[in-house]
Amino acid sequence: MKSSLSDALFLLFFITTQSICYTTTNAAGENVVKDATGKKVLNGVPYHIAPVISANGGRIKLTDTMNNNKICPFNVVQDPADVNLGGQFMFTLIGKKKYLFTSSILAIDSGYPEGACEKSTFWTVPNVLEPPPSNLITTGGGFDQSFTCFQVVEYPKPTSPKVHSYMLQYCPSFCGAGPGTCFNVSIYLHSGVRRLIAATGGTPFEFVLYKLSK
Ligand SMILES: *[C@@H]1O[C@H](CO)[C@@H](O)[C@H](O)[C@H]1NC(C)=O
Repeated sequence: MKSSLSDALFLLFFITTQSICYTTTNAAGENVVKDATGKKVLNGVPYHIAPVISANGGRIKLTDTMNNNKICPFNVVQDPADVNLGGQFMFTLIGKKKYLFTSSILAIDSGYPEGACEKSTFWTVPNVLEPPPSNLITTGGGFDQSFTCFQVVEYPKPTSPKVHSYMLQYCPSFCGAGPGTCFNVSIYLHSGVRRLIAATGGTPFEFVLYKLSK
């Protein structure tokens, strides 16, 4: 009796863990991305991108001004102050899904600010094989084109075991033409501004996601 009870408990445990796995992992072994509160990140819904530790600066945002000049497309930068909400960024998988998955090609849409700049709001890397500023991330990309191909990857050695932290990679070849490797996205100080760069080497930018409060 005793052993069949523990067998039954084990079976129950097994079924439960299996079904948990099924809801968070798809057939290709990709995991659902979680936000800073542990909730599943929705596909095509705006989030804030925050560093896992705020000691090195604040959240990710766009800027329309560099060296006192208006720019178009915009640059993707890290806010020097850690008190601001940051920009709103929408991760959109290529192919309709409810949630965002790791290691899946996606586009990142800034959605705003609007104004005089007519360029698209999708993130892109002008030329990943050239040194800065060519490999720094800007807006102006097109959805589902090789130069918008990003993916969210679990951070290999997370700073905190309590939160789901991630890094971004830019993988142009996954969407078509381009070099056959993925480039880590990290922070790069350019003209005194902390910008996002797609390059080999460097410490990838470790971030968490926050859903916008309504
Ligand atoms: C990307 O970052 C990871 C984690 O730091 C590192 O192991 C890997 O070598 C990096 N890849 C490239 C191409 O720089």
